[in-house]
Amino acid sequence: MTFELLLNDNINIENVKTFTMEEVARHRTIDDMWMVIDGLVYDFTNWNLHPVGNKILLKVAGTDATKAYRKSHSKIKISDEIQEKYLIGYISN
Ligand code: HEM
Repeated sequence: MTFELLLNDNINIENVKTFTMEEVARHRTIDDMWMVIDGLVYDFTNWNLHPVGNKILLKVAGTDATKAYRKSHSKIKISDEIQEKYLIGYISN
């Protein structure tokens, strides 16, 4: 599955930047929390509404959280709302 398939239709790819995993890894604190799910980079620093809290998110901050996400969620695609607010880019090496 490519990131294009997981990017929702309403998101304009031209506004989305590219990052490396090294850049993502620099953002792994509660005040600066990025992560990757399916090749897409999210900045969840200001997302305070994760249903089971944000401490769990901190465990995978700065990493590829795809496996951790799949383990606890059945939904494949991340919702429009989350992508609109928190998607900042995608991984390119
Ligand atoms: C550790 C890594 C985790 C990550 C990266 C993560 C990430 C996310 C994301 C991005 C969403 C929004 C999905 C959407 O709106 O499309 C979400 C929702 C949710 N998460 Fe997590 N989560 C994690 C762990 C967990 C765990 C351990 C649980 C519960 C045992 C959990 C329960 C939920 C629930 C109930 C929702 C709302 C319903 C849903 O979208 O599935 N999450 N999570």
